[in-house]
Amino acid sequence: MKIVLANDHSAVDLKKEIKEYLEEKGYEVIDVGTNSTESCDYPVFGEKAGQMVASGQAERGILICGTGVGISLAANKVRGVRACVCSEPYSAKMSRLHNDTNILAFGARVVGPELAKMIVDEWLEAEFEGGRHKRRVDMITDIENRQERSGN
Ligand code: RB5
Repeated sequence: MKIVLANDHSAVDLKKEIKEYLEEKGYEVIDVGTNSTESCDYPVFGEKAGQMVASGQAERGILICGTGVGISLAANKVRGVRACVCSEPYSAKMSRLHNDTNILAFGARVVGPELAKMIVDEWLEAEFEGGRHKRRVDMITDIENRQERSGN
């Protein structure tokens, strides 16, 4: 599975640790940066990763900023992205089972590396359950489609 990783300046160290962790587990990782601790704008990186997932260049994405909030908001503006911020493994797992999330986000100023790895594991190992959950996820996609048609 190809996973795109993106982060801002607040999360360079945690991103590196997660990247190594994923590679050790055999995942193919595409790192779209940043790799600098100089202050930068998280929407740039959230959008890059979102586009890679939406276009199929990566199957999943993992985003890290200070809180995970800003970078996930940016990614969620890309059509087809379902990104969620998770600071614990339960929500990460459920976001796959029920919401078919394709991007996971968390905060380098919120979770430590070991908790982040648990969150990542639960999220990557859980499969979407479909059924009634598919109907609801389709309803989310419909909102996106209606917005696009109305030009809003
Ligand atoms: C950067 O200071 C910080 O605002 C950013 O990493 C993130 O937490 C935004 O949501």
